[in-house]
Amino acid sequence: MRTLSKLTQLLAMPYTNDKRIEMPNIFVTREIPQPALKFLQEKADVVDVNPHDRILEHQEFLESIARRDGVLCTLNNKVDAGTLDAAPSVKVFANFAVGYNNINVAAATERGIVITNTPGVLTDATADLAWALLFATARRVVEADEFLRAGHFKGWAPMMYLGADITGSTLGIIGAGRIGTAMGLRAAAFRMNVLYCNSSSNSSELDGRGARRVEMDELLRESDFVSIHAPLNEKTRHLIGRDELARMKSTAHLINTARGPIVDEVALVDALRNSIIAGAGLDVFEDEPAMKPGLTELKNVVILPHIGSATIGTRTKMALMAAGNIIAVLNGERPDNPVNPEVFDQALR
Ligand code: GLV
Repeated sequence: MRTLSKLTQLLAMPYTNDKRIEMPNIFVTREIPQPALKFLQEKADVVDVNPHDRILEHQEFLESIARRDGVLCTLNNKVDAGTLDAAPSVKVFANFAVGYNNINVAAATERGIVITNTPGVLTDATADLAWALLFATARRVVEADEFLRAGHFKGWAPMMYLGADITGSTLGIIGAGRIGTAMGLRAAAFRMNVLYCNSSSNSSELDGRGARRVEMDELLRESDFVSIHAPLNEKTRHLIGRDELARMKSTAHLINTARGPIVDEVALVDALRNSIIAGAGLDVFEDEPAMKPGLTELKNVVILPHIGSATIGTRTKMALMAAGNIIAVLNGERPDNPVNPEVFDQALR
């Protein structure tokens, strides 16, 4: 009888032999939208939030998570093997982001720790922001705004702030996953030709709208706007470097709303300074929050502080998703968005 009920329990909690956490103790590494915090407070006994309005130092992060059951973390928190070993009671790290390059997922999987992310809910907001950057850099919106505010506007002039045409031009998308596809679909409104590169399959949605999957070389040579939507991993680190920038049109613009290290930022500063390409719109940087020397002095780049998903609605959905993922795991259930579903499969073997 006892054995049977143990087996039933195990099947109800497929990912681990551990029991459901009776008195969940959760740490949240940054203030998050209220509805998600309220949800966590209803479901857990202890919910502590980083009291500072800043990113925790790594040591502070380690101390804060040492005796927790679940952690809601952000892309600023490094969750490497050392972090996992310093927090042996943590069953789940719920990343408040779709990207999870801040986490050593293999190390977590080895230790039976669940990692979750927030896919889908931020697709549109991020694609919208990529378009905002495309418009801002093509039409020199920020430069022109600064000019006017500085009192230099003396009336309309035929040669003032000439930018690049968007309608009818060619958009090249690197990474045709959810966000890259959303970016490409929006291009139809501007009668653009869409080219894309993708490491895995074709995007049927983009193909259905006349987009063409091409090799990187063709994409770089043909595109007026190159927009990056790939995840950061060892294959994509410095995917766009000096050689790739040199292959782009001198009139082209580079947009990056994915992850900074996909672009060699030193090479990009040189390319922008020496008119190898015309401009760039960046929401992400190689060593965030730092920027490579010279970047902020350039007029032909629009730089934003990593706000791709920053709308009230989207951040609320992301927070609720991350909170739901934590509570599911601590309840012994499969969360909706596991990054390492192998953790469950291993336990079933
Ligand atoms: C933000 O950069 C994210 O990955 O969600």
